[in-house]
Amino acid sequence: KNSSDIRIVACGTAMHAGLFGKYITEKLARRPCECELATEFRYKNPIVGKDDAVIVISQAGETADSLAALRLAKEKGAFTLGIVNVAASSIAREADNVIYTRAGPEIAVASTKAFTVQATVMTLLSVAIALESGKIDAETAKRITSELTYELPEAIKIISGDDGHIKKIAAAIAKSENAFFIGRGIDRYAAEEGSLKLKEISYIHSEAYAAGELKHGTLSLIGDGVPVIASACDRALYEKTKAGLSEAKARGAMTVFVSPADICTEKDGDFVIALPCISEYIAAISAVTAYQLLAYHTAVMRKTDVDMPKNLAKSVTVE
Ligand code: M6R
Repeated sequence: KNSSDIRIVACGTAMHAGLFGKYITEKLARRPCECELATEFRYKNPIVGKDDAVIVISQAGETADSLAALRLAKEKGAFTLGIVNVAASSIAREADNVIYTRAGPEIAVASTKAFTVQATVMTLLSVAIALESGKIDAETAKRITSELTYELPEAIKIISGDDGHIKKIAAAIAKSENAFFIGRGIDRYAAEEGSLKLKEISYIHSEAYAAGELKHGTLSLIGDGVPVIASACDRALYEKTKAGLSEAKARGAMTVFVSPADICTEKDGDFVIALPCISEYIAAISAVTAYQLLAYHTAVMRKTDVDMPKNLAKSVTVE
């Protein structure tokens, strides 16, 4: 609440959870908040000092670059907070304070439940900062907290129960060599995470774009049958994202639209994943669950090793 700048640093999926935190902190708390890769932060002599807060997110708590970023932030006098899954790991021990995500052991290399709880904790933290700074009232904070606590787990159960539908979409994607994920606002960060998951375990080349950026270059890559997957959890941006997806459709793309059930229709894409009707932050976290399942089924169909994708380690403890 009292720090001048809020910085979030992390790697990979944890960084995407950080982007959720940045977005919600800026939106709800009206505080500038930067989120960046630990791999970059540690080498750029970051402008961070004793009045600032640096939040380091890490499932393992041992990621070499995230740990180095934490040590650098401490050296510069910043208040440091670790958001960590593995108890007593280096980041948990060395940060000034720690919030444990308590997801339980995550075995597969691809981060899944760790992401869900990291994004949840970042949302809760943003809500707390907004409440403490008087930018939202107690009722709003209570509503979002209750959605995270009760509605998000329900939504995830419902989405996982609709696995057969996601499997059909995976079958349509599995033969592709390229895929694109798009979204605006918070959906942009869901797109980043969906794209990482798909490429990490299925080896399909995938990129994520802010939906409005398609026309600034990427549309030239869209041709017949190329999967373009869009999420529109932010109701205010729904029409815009839908229009972006239609542009891709007009160029021959195979489209998948992910959006709350009360606003989407079957016509919104070649395939539609209707999410339980919840607010944008929670819906966006649950959209990532749908993306995780999509990546999983696609990888199984492509016969790749879902748990241990090639060339990757669960915990990157060296540079
Ligand atoms: O343990 P960490 O959260 O610090 O790991 C960071 C990344 O290496 C990790 O999230 C990686 O991107 C995942 N394999 C992605 O699924």
